[in-house]
Order: sequence, then structure tokens, then C-alpha cells
Amino acid sequence: MSARAFYIPPVLIFGSGSSEQVGEESRKLGAKKGLIVTDEVLIKLGVLDSIKRALTQAQIQFVIYSGVFTEPTLEFVEAGLKTYKENGCDFLLAVGGGSAIDTAKAIAIMVTNPGSIGDYRGLNKVTEKGAPFIAIPTTAGTGSEVTQFTIITDTKRDVKMLIASPFLIPQEAIVDPLLTLSMPRGLTAATGIDALTHAVEAYVSVKAQPMSDIFALSAIELISGDLRQAWSNGNNREAREKTMLGALQAGIAFSNSSVALVHGMSRPIGAYFHVPHGVSNAALLGVVTEFSLIGNPARYARIAEAMGENVVGLTILEAADLAAESIIRLIEDIEIPSLPELGVDKEKLDKLASKMAEDAIASGSPGNNPRQATKEEIIELYKLAYSQ
Ligand SMILES: [Fe+2]
Repeated sequence: MSARAFYIPPVLIFGSGSSEQVGEESRKLGAKKGLIVTDEVLIKLGVLDSIKRALTQAQIQFVIYSGVFTEPTLEFVEAGLKTYKENGCDFLLAVGGGSAIDTAKAIAIMVTNPGSIGDYRGLNKVTEKGAPFIAIPTTAGTGSEVTQFTIITDTKRDVKMLIASPFLIPQEAIVDPLLTLSMPRGLTAATGIDALTHAVEAYVSVKAQPMSDIFALSAIELISGDLRQAWSNGNNREAREKTMLGALQAGIAFSNSSVALVHGMSRPIGAYFHVPHGVSNAALLGVVTEFSLIGNPARYARIAEAMGENVVGLTILEAADLAAESIIRLIEDIEIPSLPELGVDKEKLDKLASKMAEDAIASGSPGNNPRQATKEEIIELYKLAYSQ
């Protein structure tokens, strides 16, 4: 096989209570004053309290930018960067879901790179290493704490800009499952399916590689094994630990082998209908799996096995079908709302489907899918996702 690179943060700390090490870890970076990028909801829930205490104990100063209230936008990045510079900060600390972490990633590279974040859209356009950066996720979902991607929305043009560069990988990720205990059911479900989608797409991606396969399969096993329990009882610590470990591993997997058709199609649903990312993935994952599995049945059969399905005595194709069934059952069990239930307008979807398919293809992700999809097939899949 051809040579492949594999990127992860230089330091990864996983475990319940690990976020209390943030003061010590910030000191190791040589940092003195941090910009904490987060959102108001987490502040109100008290999620930041122990983190602020740990920083104070380590004599690390900090200021807070808590303006991240939707998926990241150009405006958040500019406002956060301004706060960072005005306060003489020397490192970034993201505490939150994918939105806070993605925003902080963009701020970190804009501290050292000229122009605007939009100039770096695409692959490997960033030329300078960013400001020191620690990511502390509070959802078990995006895996953004370990990936080389950020997605920033240009709200004026309704476009989600994907920026990819190893310079976007945080210096350190501190992954503390206790921080996910306060996640409500709907968020647990949506972020969990986002993580499962990362793992599935990383495993079937045409860019899959042996190093990412290990993380992808383990993530599929952990998430499909424990997401129902984490959803059923948010205080089930074992289930929270397993799903968060799964989300972390899924992040490592897709950062190194890419996502595919589901994510390519999901972003336009988010951009045009403001459906949360995990929910639009959930609407697509079943139909896209059924569509894609003939492109690599052996891999989908292995996914079925990792999801706990009994594949003994089945043909590869029968086992691959089970992967789709198993995914659909999981999404039903955790009651993720469908696109009609979310109020997505059918007429608007029909009208926009052609443009959405073009946007999906332009993102590059569908090119990683085991079964390549034409524009017409993507339009059809949007319709199926709506009516399922
Ligand atoms: Fe995702």
C-alpha cells in the first residue's frame, strides 16, 4: 500500500475527572493567560466551574469568550480572535461541543496566519502553526478535539466551509466523560449518532488505512453497545465513559481516513434548514448505508459484527444488510426526530435538492464513499431520507 500519515494530538488524556488536570497541563504548555471558548449554556450548568478552579490553582489567568450559540460562524471566529488579542492571551482552551472546539481551532490558526479564516478553506492551505490549544469536549460526538478539521459557516452565503490541516489538531485533548453527564437525551442521541457516523464512514472510506481501521471498529463497538444505555439514563457513568471513548476513537479514525457520503450530504441540510449536524446525519445514515453497501460488502459485514449482530452462517451480503438494519434500529430506539418532524419543508427540499447535491459533491466527502453516487442518485437519497 502507499505511504499514509496518521495524526493525533501529541497529548491525549482520557478518564473521569481528567478535566481537573487542565491547570497543570496548561502550565506544561508554558501558558500564562488563556482564552476559554465556550457557550453560555455550559456556564449556566456549572460545567466550567471545576475547570476555572483548576486554572486558578495553577495560577493561569483566563478570559472567557462565550458567544458560541450555534454552529461556528465567521462572526464567532472574528469576535473570539479580537477578545484573544485585546486581552494579551497566549493560549486557547475550548470547553464545549464541536461548535466551541471548531471555533477555537479557527481562532488558534488566525492568531498566527494572515487574512481571514475563509482564505484557508480546503485542504492544507494553512501555513503556520497556530496558538497553543487545549480542547476539552463536553459532548460524546464530534471528535473535534482530535481532528484536523474545522467547519465554519459563512452565514451571508449559507455555506459551510471545511478547513483541513494538521495545524488544526489541538496540542492536547482532555476527554472527561463526567462532563457529559448533563447532556439532555436529544443531544446524547444526536451527538452519539454523529460519532457512529464518523466511525462507519472512516471504516468504509476509500481512504481507510490500517491504523484508522482499529479505532473505527472499536468506536462502532463502543457506541452501538452503550449509546442506548447513555440515552436511557444520563447518569449511567459506565455508558457515558464508553460512548465518550467511542466518540474519541471515531474522531481519530475519521481525521485520518475521512468521512464520506453521509457527511457530504449532511452539511447542506444543516446549511439550508438549520438542522443540527447529528440529526441530519441520523436522517441519512440508514438510507446511505443501504445504498453504499454493495460498494464494499465485506466491510459492512464487519460493521454488523462490531454492532453485535450474529453473522454466523450468513453470506457477506446478508451480513452487510444487517449493518444497515442495525443502524436503523439504533436510530429508532433513541428517538431521533425525522426531517418532517423537524419541520423541514418538503417543497423547499425538492426545490433545493439539486443545489444541495452539487454542494455535497463539491465538498469532496462523497468521493470517499465505497459506492460513488451521481448527482441524480444524491437527489434521490435526499428524498428517501425525508420520506423514511
Ligand atoms: Fe460529524
